[in-house]
Amino acid sequence: MARISRHLPATIFPSFSTALLLFLLFVSNNLRHCAARGHDYHDALRKSILFFEGQRSGRLPPDQRIRWRKDSALHDGASAGVDLTGGYYDAGDNVKFGFPMAFTTTMLSWSIIDFGRNMGGGELGNAVRAVKWGTDYLLKATAHDGVVYVQVGDPLSDHNCWERPEDMDTLRTAYKIDANHPGSDVAGETAAALAAASIVFRSRDPSYSRLLLNRAIKVFEFADRHRGAYSNSLRYAVCPFYCDVNGYQDELLWGAAWLHKASRRREYREYIVRNEVVLRAGDTINEFGWDNKHAGINVLLSKEVLMGRANDLKSFQINADGFICSLLPGISHTQVQYSPGGLIFKAGGSNMQHVTSLSFLLLAYSNYLSHANHAVACGADSSASPALLKRLARRQVDYILGDNPLGISYMVGYGPRYPQRIHHRGSSLPSLDAHPTHIGCKAGSRYFLSPNPNPNVLVGAVVGGPNSSDAFPDSRPFFQESEPTTYINAPLVGLLAYFSAHP
Ligand SMILES: *[C@@H]1O[C@H](CO)[C@@H](O)[C@H](O)[C@H]1NC(C)=O
Repeated sequence: MARISRHLPATIFPSFSTALLLFLLFVSNNLRHCAARGHDYHDALRKSILFFEGQRSGRLPPDQRIRWRKDSALHDGASAGVDLTGGYYDAGDNVKFGFPMAFTTTMLSWSIIDFGRNMGGGELGNAVRAVKWGTDYLLKATAHDGVVYVQVGDPLSDHNCWERPEDMDTLRTAYKIDANHPGSDVAGETAAALAAASIVFRSRDPSYSRLLLNRAIKVFEFADRHRGAYSNSLRYAVCPFYCDVNGYQDELLWGAAWLHKASRRREYREYIVRNEVVLRAGDTINEFGWDNKHAGINVLLSKEVLMGRANDLKSFQINADGFICSLLPGISHTQVQYSPGGLIFKAGGSNMQHVTSLSFLLLAYSNYLSHANHAVACGADSSASPALLKRLARRQVDYILGDNPLGISYMVGYGPRYPQRIHHRGSSLPSLDAHPTHIGCKAGSRYFLSPNPNPNVLVGAVVGGPNSSDAFPDSRPFFQESEPTTYINAPLVGLLAYFSAHP
């Protein structure tokens, strides 16, 4: 699994206009390169969604397409007297971490809400099923008032083994938060996921949508009333894995923002305005991931402002503009860094999570700006048009798909060259079909250490990606580079949908 990023030292460019000019030349050069090659965005879209089937926990349905995966973790929750089967493994291990699972569900939902119409019928259906695999689990995890189950699986026990999920004999402890052990971060994100998904299902399945929204309302109320960080309540279970470093205020605001969008209830709008101060511009302006929702809140709420429906939320749009400017070189000290090959780079491991989530925001904001016929002013004499934001986002997607110094696709199964030794237990161990007998905890080590390619191709998995010099080891022990995660793919689904419809 991947951890929170740390900020890189700021770089100040000598002159804004020189830097921007160089950058645009750089981008247009790369665009020529991409145009010459062209990507099959629809193929990549299909694969990016398929990946989620490889991450499924629980009893697999008959229409499961990744056939080398089988039923697993069928007794999750039993030790606590509840049913917690289902849901997703976060990455290359077999723990069900609720915080990133909820964030993944939120981002898959946002991908569908903004870009579902670009997916084509078949992939839209698959994407909706991927959301439902998440929400069916989150409904189980929130089934009892005042309790949220936030994780299944003892991470130390799990990480000590290299085992197929189907063979798991590690501790499947179920961890929960409640009034005396609060977790406003994970509960806030869970409320956001349920609310966002209720929009996805609004016309497709109105009664399921109502169930999701009502649950979101309850979970948010619990998160807000019993405030605290789940890392304090469950320290050794969640840290250092998905430790809440950034605090829970942003998840409360994020939950309220999605509830506002899903329910249109006045109380959430008022909550947002009351708590606006939580988001100060500054060094978190361009952070967005499972731990930090700042840029996401700003972009999400800006849509309302740009449509002229919410002048009381204007400060969020000012922050969103600042976020956009931070992705262009040379404008502010909170500048996002790029690798020499042109990839957004933030330190801390699993860099692709930043690439896909920030690119998603660029694209979403670009659409909101287009509708309002608006451009972002960055500095005195320049503005970033919606078309420029789309080019920046496309450049990141093209890098992932193979337009990079190594000429390798970072999506498994896409293009002629892609990572062969991803840090993923199920992919790297022989499947049950190939090897029906149990492979124990330590017996898996020889597969982990093997130089051979993984036997099971986890199609669609996007790995953590290259280091800041565009180098990639393609080696299992380098988990920061070679491990896929669900929250890398979730925003990518929206990006690929858009570009498949606008090639
Ligand atoms: C990236 O990885 C390459 C190859 O392992 C190495 O030579 C280079 O120093 C690394 N760059 C950074 C900034 O760590």
